Amino acid sequence: MSVVRLSGIEIGYTEVGQGSAVVLLHGFPLNRSMWRDQMQELSVAHRVIMPDLRGHGDTVASSAQATMDEMAGDVAALLDYLKIDQIVLGGLSLGGYVAFAFYRLFPNRVRALVLADTRPQADSEEARRNREVMRKHVLQQGIDTIADEMLPKLLAPATLAKDFETVTRVREMIVGTQPEGAAAALGGMAARRDQSDLLSEIASPTLIIVGSEDSVTPLGDAELMHRKIPNSHLEIIEGAGHLSNIERPVEFNRALTDFMNTLEL
Ligand code: MLT
Repeated sequence: MSVVRLSGIEIGYTEVGQGSAVVLLHGFPLNRSMWRDQMQELSVAHRVIMPDLRGHGDTVASSAQATMDEMAGDVAALLDYLKIDQIVLGGLSLGGYVAFAFYRLFPNRVRALVLADTRPQADSEEARRNREVMRKHVLQQGIDTIADEMLPKLLAPATLAKDFETVTRVREMIVGTQPEGAAAALGGMAARRDQSDLLSEIASPTLIIVGSEDSVTPLGDAELMHRKIPNSHLEIIEGAGHLSNIERPVEFNRALTDFMNTLEL
C-alpha cells in the first residue's frame, strides 16, 4: 500500500499489476480492501489501482463534508501523479456515485465503466434526514453504532446468517473507518447531485452489476441505468445483496472478466 499527498490531503491507495489501468472505487463506509478478490483476478492482466476515498481507510477527510466531486478530483490527481491518462473505472455504491462525478468531469479519461450496486439519483428528502441522523450518531456515539445498523442493509439475509467470515470482514471495515470521515462522506452523499441526465450521454461501454437481493440500490435502479446508458450490459448476481463483489466474488469476477475481454485495451 502507498500514501501520497495530493490536493492537500494524504491519499492511501494500492496499486498492483501491469497493463491497461483499472481503477476500483469502494462503497461506504468501507475501504479499498473490499476489492481483494477482484484485485487478484484483474491484476493478472491489468494495472489495478484502488484508492481509499476521502474519509475512508488511509485517506482522511479535510473538512466536515467530502463531496463526490472532491473524491473524483482526488482520483484524477492520483492518476496524474501515476502518469495514467485513461482508465476503466469501476465503482460500487458510493464508488459508483464518485464514478458518475468523475465521468461528468473527465469523460475523456474513461475507456469503460463498471457500475456495481449503485444508482444515479440523488437522495430523497427522507434519505437526507436519515443521513443526518446517522451522521450525528457516528460523531456522538462512534462508528460501532452504525455497524449493526448497516450490516443487514449491506448483506443478503443468507450471507448475514451463514457467512461468518464475510460478516466479520465487512464489520471490521466499517469499524475501521474514522467517525469524522464517515460523517464527511454522509454529508457529501446527502448533497450529491442527480446524475440521471448523464446516463444517455455516457459513450463508454458500461457494465452494470447488481445483487438480486440488493435492498440499498435495488434491481430497479440497475435496470434504469441499463435502459438509459446506450452501450451497457446488465449482470444480475443471484443471491448477493448490496456488496455483490464480496458476497459472490466468483460470479462478480466472471462478469467483470467477460466485460474486460470485450474491450479493446
Ligand atoms: C454504499 O454502499 O456506498 C452506501 O450504502 C451508499 C449509500 O448509502 O447511498
